[in-house]
Amino acid sequence: MSRIRAIRAWEVFDSRGSPTVAVDVILDSGDSGYSMVPSGASTGSREALELRDGDAGRLGGRGVLRAIERIEGEISTALLGLDVNDQTRIDGVMIELDGTKNKERLGANAILGVSLAAARAAACSRNLELHQYLTELYGPADVRMPVPMMNILNGGAHADNNVDIQEFMIQPVSMTTFRDALCAGVEIFNALKMLLAEKGLATSVGDEGGFAPDLESNIAGFELIEEAITRSGYRVGKDVLLAVDCAASEFFHDGSYHLAGDDRIFTSKNFCRYLEELTNQFPIASIEDGMDENDWHGWHLLTESLGNRIQLVGDDLFVTNTEILARGIREGIANAILIKLNQIGTLTETLSAIRMAHDSGYSVIVSHRSGDTEDTFIADLAVATGAGQIKTGSLSRSERVAKYNRLLRIESSLHDSRYLGLAEFQGMET
Ligand code: PGA
Ligand code: ZN
Repeated sequence: MSRIRAIRAWEVFDSRGSPTVAVDVILDSGDSGYSMVPSGASTGSREALELRDGDAGRLGGRGVLRAIERIEGEISTALLGLDVNDQTRIDGVMIELDGTKNKERLGANAILGVSLAAARAAACSRNLELHQYLTELYGPADVRMPVPMMNILNGGAHADNNVDIQEFMIQPVSMTTFRDALCAGVEIFNALKMLLAEKGLATSVGDEGGFAPDLESNIAGFELIEEAITRSGYRVGKDVLLAVDCAASEFFHDGSYHLAGDDRIFTSKNFCRYLEELTNQFPIASIEDGMDENDWHGWHLLTESLGNRIQLVGDDLFVTNTEILARGIREGIANAILIKLNQIGTLTETLSAIRMAHDSGYSVIVSHRSGDTEDTFIADLAVATGAGQIKTGSLSRSERVAKYNRLLRIESSLHDSRYLGLAEFQGMET
């Protein structure tokens, strides 16, 4: 048994220069594990809450010294001496100690930092790679390399351009290895850069490393990406699928969907039609948050019209929360879930959400946040649970590429690594 001897925490900075929590969990044996916590911009309203200092005189009130105090104080006191291999108990103790529904007292950032660092320490103490340890924790899993969802064009809350749709992504699926899929992504990313430059459009990047030019319409984004794919020698819709994150809650006001970039306003029904038309025009395999997180009527319409042929992903809708996911499954809403550790705040609860999705036939996409760090935990999580897909940004900005690089390392270390590609979308007519 390896017991927790000490927990240290300190303030670091994420990819937006925003303060965040870093944690070391140290064991009796001298082994240790670290973690750094990510942070979103287009957050769902039912996410677990980050604890921030609110001291306007320091770091714009965004400091996390109070969260760190909680870790080194109350949380340490409760966890010292516990067996680090008992992740359920560690997370359970923190949930109980917090005592609130959304982890606002101790802070989901404090709790998650400790939860993830403990898992790394446990893996280290057993001489296992993190993904091997996570597979043990998760239980039976169809371990495989995930299909990447690469966000090569950024809009919405992640960029200062006029594009409403938050993420335009590509998914290379005809390849037989993760490495080849990633290479395709890199080639397409570079082709897109050249294409934008030729058209006199900006080639600077947004929060997730995708380009962030002003465009004449949201549709123009898809056209540019299609051209970049073709120029790179790949077949649109065969070798490479398109995916989109509308993050619709960001442009849903007073009961309607406002696409400011297109100067159009839609009812739920009409926005559903708009999305349907998009899927007829472009080989879009996956739509995330196509409807507002509270517009369950809209979600019903969308699932009815597209759910049998398009992956419909709940992010702000489900917020990695088994209670909300259970309702979605009961009501037949969406058919996939985006998994973000910090939406729920512990590893144990995250694994439960993945398990529930898998058991119900929902697809699983493990995801980064728009404010992220060089911590690559999600790469191991995606492989370990057989998630099938990972969303971790574009092919620039090291906090994004770090996850891809970690996946390359994992793939090269597995003797029986598999990349299913298009088979991840089985049952959907892509
Ligand atoms: P966020 O965006 O991290 O800013 O919430 C990511 C997403 O919406 O998928
Ligand atoms: Zn999203």
